[in-house]
Amino acid sequence: MGDSGNLASAYNDDSVLFRVLRHLGWDSLADIGYFTLPTLPVAALAGPVPFQRRLARRSLALLDARPGQLVLDAGCGRGDTTARLAAAGCRALGVDIQPAQIDQARRRFGDSARFAVADATALPRRAAEIPLTDGSFDQVHCLEAAFHFGHEGRRSFLSESFRLLRPGGRLVLVDVTSRTDQPIGTLDPNGLVRATWRFDDLEPCERYPLMAADAGFTTRRILDWTTPVLHRAAQLCALFAGTASTRAGRQALCLRWPGLRTLDAQDWDEVIAVVRAHRAIGRVTRYTAYVLDKPADGVTGVAP
Ligand SMILES: C[S@@+](CC[C@H](N)C(=O)[O-])C[C@H]1O[C@@H](n2cnc3c(N)ncnc32)[C@H](O)[C@@H]1O
Repeated sequence: MGDSGNLASAYNDDSVLFRVLRHLGWDSLADIGYFTLPTLPVAALAGPVPFQRRLARRSLALLDARPGQLVLDAGCGRGDTTARLAAAGCRALGVDIQPAQIDQARRRFGDSARFAVADATALPRRAAEIPLTDGSFDQVHCLEAAFHFGHEGRRSFLSESFRLLRPGGRLVLVDVTSRTDQPIGTLDPNGLVRATWRFDDLEPCERYPLMAADAGFTTRRILDWTTPVLHRAAQLCALFAGTASTRAGRQALCLRWPGLRTLDAQDWDEVIAVVRAHRAIGRVTRYTAYVLDKPADGVTGVAP
C-alpha cells in the first residue's frame, strides 16, 4: 500500500537525482518521458520536459475522455495531467498521497481542476467535495504511480478503480513493470534505485492483465513503451553519466545547465552511481500501458 511517510521525502531536493532533474527542467510532470530516435539529440540538448509532455499526451489519449466526463487522475503528482483533462473539458479530480505534491498542484492548476490528498489504494468516499461513490466516474488515469503501491496496493487500486467506474468506464494504467518476477533486490543490490523512488518491487508485466481480470476488467489494449521510454532514457542517462565522469564534461554540463553548478564533488559521484544503478535495473524492466475497460454488460475477461 502507499506509504506517505516513506514517500514524503521523494521527489524533492533531498535526493541528488531529483535536484539534477529539477536543474534539467523537471517541473509540473514527474514522468520519464517518451523519446523517439530522431529526437534523442534534441533531448540531450533541450532536456526532458517536451518528452515528458509527449508521454502525458499519449497516456491521456488512451482514456478517450470526452468533455463533461468525470475523470480521476490517481497519483497525479503536481497536477499537470489533471489540468490537461480539465482543459479538455472534463471534470477532473487529481489525488496524490503526498500533501506537498497536492499543495503544488493546487497552486499551479487549482483554478481549473480539483485536487485532494488521498491514497489511491484506499480511496475515501469523498475528495475535494466530489463523492467517490460506486459507478460514478467515467475514467480513471494513473500515469507512472502504481509502482509505488506494492503488489497488494496495486490489487487494491484495481479493485477501487473498478468500483468507482461506471459500466463501460475505462482505466488507463501506465507503469514501470518487470520482465521477470526475479526479486528486485538482486537487480538493485545497493537499493539505490528503490531508495531514490521509494518503492519495494515492480509488477511483472504479464501479471497485470491477470490482476485486472480478477478485479473484473477486460483488457482492451496493452502497449509496450519500453523502447521509447526506458531504453531511450537509459541512452540519455549513459550519455549524462559518461559526460559527468570527467572534469571537462561536468564543466560542459554546467555551461548548458547552470543550476548544476550547485553540485559538489560528492553529489556528482552520487548522481553518477544512481544513474548507473538505473541502467542496471533497466535491463529487466518494461514500461507498459494497459487500457482496461469495465464491461458495460457484466462480461469480464480479455478482449478479442
Ligand atoms: C512518478 S510520480 C508521477 C506523477 C504524475 N502522474 C506525473 O506523471 O507527473 C508518482 C506519484 O505517485 C504518487 N503516489 C505514490 N503512491 C501513491 C498512493 N498510494 N496514492 C496516491 N498517490 C501515490 C507519488 O506521491 C507521486 O506524486
